Amino acid sequence: MIAVIGSNMVDLITYTDIMPKAGETLEAGRFAMGSGGKGANQAVASAKLGAKVTMVSKVGDDAFADNTIANFQSFGIDTKHVRKEPGYSSGVAPIFVDSNSQNRILIIKGANSRLLSQDIDEAAEDLKQCRLIVLQLEIPLETVYYAINFGNQHNIPVLLNPAPASKELDIDYACRCDFFVPNETELEILTGLPVQTEEEIILAAETLLSKGLKNIIVTMGSRGVLWMDGKNCEMIRSHQVDAIDTSGAGDAFIGCFAARFVESGDIRSALLEANAYAACSVTACGTQSSYPDTARFTEMRKQFEK
Ligand code: RIB
Repeated sequence: MIAVIGSNMVDLITYTDIMPKAGETLEAGRFAMGSGGKGANQAVASAKLGAKVTMVSKVGDDAFADNTIANFQSFGIDTKHVRKEPGYSSGVAPIFVDSNSQNRILIIKGANSRLLSQDIDEAAEDLKQCRLIVLQLEIPLETVYYAINFGNQHNIPVLLNPAPASKELDIDYACRCDFFVPNETELEILTGLPVQTEEEIILAAETLLSKGLKNIIVTMGSRGVLWMDGKNCEMIRSHQVDAIDTSGAGDAFIGCFAARFVESGDIRSALLEANAYAACSVTACGTQSSYPDTARFTEMRKQFEK
């Protein structure tokens, strides 16, 4: 089983090439609402690929809460540890996607800011059964550190996706994870080193490996993925697809990697699968709504073999 200790959000997605200035009203083309949040997206991607997933998360006491819980359950995700936080809104994320398929995201954390170490204590017996703990940074950093310690104490591998990037993240904690999965911007912010070229990305990644990190996996969008573990240094090229919405592609990658790693223990083959899964996800709109299930993924992958 995989435990995702993280956020959930309601994604409010506007498709537009224009942004209003102060005091201006503009009309945009299209709107869609969907379930999102980096933690929830990763959990759903894993579950859609057949993994058993338990979610530790907080929803608000508003109209979005029951729908978010029902959405988890519709994918077979265990919601025993998804709790409502009185007096808080659910997390929401206004997202703007342009015609180049690029996204801009604002997050309002709401109840996600109330996911605390005591929630990990309450879930402890179930967490001890897990074979991977997956974390991101849309919940309090103290909770992230507590979860890393919990994983280390109980010999459960921990994957940390440092998104959205936070300069506050204590890099020593990050280096106690088995898998650290930043994108190149997050790597730049966290190391303070340039990441314009692949050589620079490798140098920045090496600084974290030298601090004891076991595996660093840098997602680089259309350029692909870099994996380094102190012995291997491999660049996995991304598949060329017609992207229409890149929102949540990083989460698709992590959810697929988690599912396949827990299944096989083979890091490299899990990375190859995750690379293909993320490519599939950008060919459809939305975040979770763009993640294929196993049957659809198998079908879509065939195009990469041609
Ligand atoms: O990574 C994409 C996600 O970031 C969106 O679903 C949004 O909710 C924000 O958390």
